[in-house]
Amino acid sequence: MAGNTTLTIVKPDAFGADKAGKIIALLEEKGFKVKAARVMHLTQKQAGEFYAVHSARPFYGELVEFMTSGPCMPLVLEKDNAVLALRDAIGATDPAEAAEGTVRKLYAESKGRNAIHASDSDENAARESRFFFSETELLFG
Ligand code: RTP
Ligand code: MG
Repeated sequence: MAGNTTLTIVKPDAFGADKAGKIIALLEEKGFKVKAARVMHLTQKQAGEFYAVHSARPFYGELVEFMTSGPCMPLVLEKDNAVLALRDAIGATDPAEAAEGTVRKLYAESKGRNAIHASDSDENAARESRFFFSETELLFG
C-alpha cells in the first residue's frame, strides 16, 4: 500500500530567489499538508550523503556544489499516495520537459538548478525524512 508522506526540499536556487513561499503555497493548493519543515545550509558531507545514490554520475560534483551553495528547505508533506502525487506536482527533472503548472515548469532554471527535490519511493521517503528530522518531529498528531 502506498504511504501518505513524502520528503521534499526547496533547493538553494528557489530558496535564494525567495520562491519558497510560492512553492509551498502551490503544493498546499494541490492538497499537500506540511507536517515538518526547516531551513538549513547543507554541508558537503550532508549533501554528498543525501545524494550518494548518484555518486558515480558525471553531475555528482556539480549537484553537491549546488546543494551546498546556500540554504535550502526540507519539508515532510502529507497526501494520499504522497510519493507519486508529489513527483507529479514537481514535474520532470529538466524544466524544459516539465508539464504546465508543475513546480519545475514554473520555478526551475535548468536541469541542474531545478528548484525542488522529491523522494522517488516510499522507502526513500522514510529514509530521507529521517535524514532531516528527528523521530519526535516525525511523530505526527
Ligand atoms: P531529485 O532527486 O532532486 O528530486 O531529482 P530527480 O529525481 O528528478 O532527478 P535525479 O535523476 O534523481 O537527479 C538528482 C538531481 O541531480 C541533478 N541533475 N543534474 N546536469 C544533469 O544532467 C543533471 N541530472 C540530474 C538535478 O538537480 C536533479 O534533480
Ligand atoms: Mg531523484
